[in-house]
Amino acid sequence: MKKRLLPMSMLLVVLLLGLSACGSSSPAAGQDSQVPQETAADAQETESLDQEEEETAEETEETKEPEQAVQGSTEMESAVAENDATAAAASEAESPAPKGNALAIYFSRVGNTDFPEGIDADSSASIRIDDNGLMGNAGQIAAWIAEEAGCETMEILTEETYPADYNETVDQAKQEQNEGFRPLLKADEKAVEDYETIYLVFPNWWGDLPMPVYSFLEAHNLAGKTVNVFVTHEGSRFSNTVGTIAELEPGADVREGLAIQGGSVSDSEQTVRQWVIDNKD
Ligand SMILES: Cc1cc2nc3c(=O)[nH]c(=O)nc-3n(C[C@H](O)[C@H](O)[C@H](O)COP(=O)(O)O)c2cc1C
Repeated sequence: MKKRLLPMSMLLVVLLLGLSACGSSSPAAGQDSQVPQETAADAQETESLDQEEEETAEETEETKEPEQAVQGSTEMESAVAENDATAAAASEAESPAPKGNALAIYFSRVGNTDFPEGIDADSSASIRIDDNGLMGNAGQIAAWIAEEAGCETMEILTEETYPADYNETVDQAKQEQNEGFRPLLKADEKAVEDYETIYLVFPNWWGDLPMPVYSFLEAHNLAGKTVNVFVTHEGSRFSNTVGTIAELEPGADVREGLAIQGGSVSDSEQTVRQWVIDNKD
């Protein structure tokens, strides 16, 4: 019995030792595996947060993109504009524009009206006929200016023509003035901004600039240029047109040219030519 008890107790001791060894190693293993598990979970969470953040960032990026594109292009444009301005200023300083760098721009009722076939100078006020056909007073003055200045002319043309009937045009012009209407213009035939001196010729309409001339001036920046103003009229002379042009073109040197009555235009060629000679820069 004793012989049997001894091996039994030894077995028990061995068993107990074995159990205690298992008991101490098991939590440790559990702890070890828990830490990475927790870390893994954290990492997973962090990963998914990172992903969310990335996605949010991507979304934000997407919404920012157009803004940045616009901003980018605006910055680029202004940089280009600055460069252009600098280049223009540099080229101006290096090589002053030739004396003939002028343009005679005019607006007249004639070029902006579809007259019936066979109309003659007697049947409508302010119509003149020369080798080139019908010509208004402003057109005639501009032609003399251009010849004397050695430059070209450009006519301001509206998309819609004015009525052939004089009185209807007078009424329409009054309505346009009252409404502050700006008629649409046809494209310029010349690059107006490339010229240094502008001779601007137009008829006095209702004590003011004809509305198409407002359209023209508001579409152009004539800063840095000399603008010589010529008006044809039936008694009102310049009215306040020179001051109005100076307001519309604040950077331009706006000068009073000549005010010529419609009926006196044919006698004023010498006066016009002399003015150009006397006032060439
Ligand atoms: C619509 C209209 C309004 C006019 N208003 C005036 C005016 O207020 N004062 C004036 O002296 N002449 C006025 N006139 C006359 C013109 O200024 C004058 O006939 C001018 O010489 C016409 O030039 P053009 O042939 O180039 O159109 C007016 C003419 C028109 C057609």
